[in-house]
Amino acid sequence: MKKYSALFSPAYIGKLLIKNRIVMAPMLSGYAMADGEVSEQLIDYYEARARGGVGLIIVEAACVDSPTGRETFRQLNINNPRFIAGLEGLAQQIKAYGSRVFIQLFHAGRQTSSSFTGVQPVAPSPLACPMIKEIPRELSITEIKEIEKSFINAAGYAFMAGFDGVELHAAHGYLINQFLSSHSNARKDEYGGTLENRMRFLMEIVEKIKESFPGLLLSVRLNIDDFVPGGLDLQESIEISRKLEQAGVDAIDCSSGTYESGLKSIEPSSYKEGWRVYLAAEVKKELNIPVIGGGMLSNPAFCNQLVKSKQTDFVFLGRTFIADGEWANKVREERLEDIRPCIRCNNCIDNNFKGLMLDCTVNPGTGREKGFSYYAKNLSDSISAVVVGSGPAGMQAALSLRERGAAVTLYEKDEKMGGLMNLASIPPYKYRIALLRDYLIGQIKKSGVDVLLNHPFDLEELQGKNPDYLILACGSQAVVPQIPGSDMDFCLGLRDVLERRVEIYNKDVLIAGGGSNGCEVADFLLQGGNRLAVVEQGDILAMGMEKKNRRDLLNRLEKGQVRKMIRSQVIEITAGQVLIADKQGGWEIIPADYLVWAAGFRPDNDLYFRAQKVHNNVFVIGDAFQVSGFKDAILQGQMIADMIKADL
Ligand SMILES: Cc1cc2nc3c(=O)[nH]c(=O)nc-3n(C[C@H](O)[C@H](O)[C@H](O)COP(=O)(O)O)c2cc1C
Ligand code: SF4
Repeated sequence: MKKYSALFSPAYIGKLLIKNRIVMAPMLSGYAMADGEVSEQLIDYYEARARGGVGLIIVEAACVDSPTGRETFRQLNINNPRFIAGLEGLAQQIKAYGSRVFIQLFHAGRQTSSSFTGVQPVAPSPLACPMIKEIPRELSITEIKEIEKSFINAAGYAFMAGFDGVELHAAHGYLINQFLSSHSNARKDEYGGTLENRMRFLMEIVEKIKESFPGLLLSVRLNIDDFVPGGLDLQESIEISRKLEQAGVDAIDCSSGTYESGLKSIEPSSYKEGWRVYLAAEVKKELNIPVIGGGMLSNPAFCNQLVKSKQTDFVFLGRTFIADGEWANKVREERLEDIRPCIRCNNCIDNNFKGLMLDCTVNPGTGREKGFSYYAKNLSDSISAVVVGSGPAGMQAALSLRERGAAVTLYEKDEKMGGLMNLASIPPYKYRIALLRDYLIGQIKKSGVDVLLNHPFDLEELQGKNPDYLILACGSQAVVPQIPGSDMDFCLGLRDVLERRVEIYNKDVLIAGGGSNGCEVADFLLQGGNRLAVVEQGDILAMGMEKKNRRDLLNRLEKGQVRKMIRSQVIEITAGQVLIADKQGGWEIIPADYLVWAAGFRPDNDLYFRAQKVHNNVFVIGDAFQVSGFKDAILQGQMIADMIKADL
């Protein structure tokens, strides 16, 4: 008996047989051309996911009414017949691998900005989205009819391009959702007020698509709960789902949240696996057509159980597929240790909001599907490399060099691999970083890389073993500002706290540095019932951090009554007391049982300066080159294999 037999059992949507219950959720990639045309990069990205075994791909939100309805730059357009050829290439490439393919039809309504579109956003009512804060123009009846026509035309283009179906994006606070929800629809005409009126926009589109393209499957992505006051809730959404089923819709893709309640649509790392599948389960009880449920899914056994217990017919997974396009095949083959785990850092969606291309922290291959000589094992096997340091950069470098055929030795001064990942995985809700570390360690073990633990590297090692390439990934060192008293006993580093070298319970603790590290250590210390203050020179806390995780983290600090001291810095430390000055010239003495330095890291590059004097082929990567986080570290580790010559 196969382990995940429910997940890999075929099922129908309408008359379309889908090979398994796994759906790749629609996700804006930013890989389309600037004019909204399909690009090669976009095709390669989806092709890799189709090759990876997913049953149904719902291609990202494609705009039916550009520029007014666009959400970001480089978003797919589906508003003109000239886009059909490119879309056809995309659909064909996905279908070639046995995956089925829908495309999502999208209009942003008020959840966009004139800085993206060049025009004032439009909406059912002139009510600004609290996050965007731009008052939209109320649509006239004539304009509503025109937008309906755009959706119907777009469905026609999708049909001509060979898509199996289309999905109407009626969720996440975009235009159709704005009509459905009393929270954003204050109209007094036939498109506002009663549920029947609020549904009119959606129903007119649905009926016309069903009538015009009976061979095209139709799914609706619906918010089963908006999670905003006065917005759609379970009861109303079940009512809507029933009416959609009666109107001939083939599947309901159950989602939730709007920009305003954005932590409920693309969750930060604190949310539990599958926490909102109950929404799909409730809808499923009322319908005969298939439902698609998900949100924060990645665990195969759990996904299998959701299908087996009939809580949902299909599971959607989003970020899991950004991080590893081969997730489905690896699960089917029961190779879970080979899955590159998503750490829910949300760098991907953060890029989206900035109008940038999708980029994955853990997977440098995302968006570069054909970009590596990685796949060509073309190094002469006599080529050898030494990699120093087994953090994310070092482990990835060792792996990619080994994949190309080099003989690789990895030196690690500590007793275990992982570098900064060991520390970074300790604060609350950061445990997925340990999963990433364990994945990399597992791959290293399988790869034939020679690992030397408890083995600091120094240049004398070159005498016995003279590698062709020396890759230095020595990481970084914590910065401790040189101010009076900074080395006193009660002053600790992040490592002292997170590794519990000092146990801190019910104490007054001052954290010097309010970047993401300082805020995360505060979150950690809150668990011990400590009273905390965070001192930060800048204007805001956790400045560089991705927005959703930041909002979530700062909510927890606020709940824990952590004192925020921004535009301030530590000036002097004496026994049990810390002198703080602010930028207005004020100062304050704060009693503290402990001070924790969270003042950042600096590259550990001393070895590099020495090594390049004695070796011809020295590279420095990761934090040892420039402190900038896991994404750059892993990318540089990957790219190093591209930079070396096949033969010396
Ligand atoms: C980068 C990114 C882009 C997204 N774009 C879309 C989109 O185009 N349409 C949509 O309905 N949802 C979009 N979403 C939401 C996902 O489809 C999915 O519902 C969400 O990520 C939660 O699922 P997950 O935890 O499996 O990632 C996007 C999410 C991400 C991370
Ligand atoms: S960028 Fe982060 S959240 Fe997005 S898929 Fe990659 S690991 Fe997951």
